[in-house]
Amino acid sequence: MRIILLGSPGAGKGTQAVFLSKHYNIPQISTGEILRNAVKNETPLGKQAKDIMQRGELVSDDIIISLIKERILEQDCEHGFIFDGFPRTIAQAEATLKENIQIDHVIEITANDDDIIKRLSGRRVHLASGRVYHITHNPPQNPGFDDVTGEKLVQRDDDKETTIKNRLNVYHEQTEPLIDFYQKLSRTNNAPKYHKIDGMQAVEKVQNDIIKNLAE
Ligand code: AP5
Ligand code: MG
Repeated sequence: MRIILLGSPGAGKGTQAVFLSKHYNIPQISTGEILRNAVKNETPLGKQAKDIMQRGELVSDDIIISLIKERILEQDCEHGFIFDGFPRTIAQAEATLKENIQIDHVIEITANDDDIIKRLSGRRVHLASGRVYHITHNPPQNPGFDDVTGEKLVQRDDDKETTIKNRLNVYHEQTEPLIDFYQKLSRTNNAPKYHKIDGMQAVEKVQNDIIKNLAE
């Protein structure tokens, strides 16, 4: 199964990707996480991406597309994958078509901008695994520490209010047009199916809705 998760910053893409990855036994491919790890390890890619990400802007399409092309060749992608945060521009979506990267489902997770700001300021992450928590909506068993490894959770550099607002603007300008792009595409032959899920419900309800939609 090959899935694209589409939605604004904080809509719950990462949260649902971790769940779907376990449920269908396919990897989560988060371009944001790949970039954050590159920044942390101070690789050439990380050095290029650091300031852009801190401003809440997008890394260039060329970099992202070649990163994805390489990642999906890895063996764990044999039976599918979940794209979390890719594609994010029309150019990235068109490159996906041009490169013949087959997609079965596009899942749009909807959310309101006002609630996003609250969600993202309470988010805590385990960088190495991509596990995501929220101090009140989805707390770890032991506050401040990852459930699986017991390691310390951190707050992302781009989860400050001004950066969150810029990320939301960037989403509306550059990523939202993909909703129309994939809705239109879904009406053509052999195209990915389009599903719209209300991301303002409880985490478990969102999970159930996605599973139900994919089973139809
Ligand atoms: P990326 O890491 O993709 O960030 P994002 O899109 O801004 O999305 P987030 O990860 O913030 O949100 P999410 O939807 O995953 O929400 P989450 O599940 O964590 O990208 C970061 C940066 O990298 C970009 O700004 C850009 O610079 C660069 N980049 C990445 N991909 C790129 C690309 N393709 N092209 C160019 N540049 C790229 O949930 C958020 C919080 O809410 C959590 O605390 C969670 O516990 C909580 N929560 C989740 N669901 C619920 C719920 N139903 N109810 C209550 N709380 C909930
Ligand atoms: Mg995420």
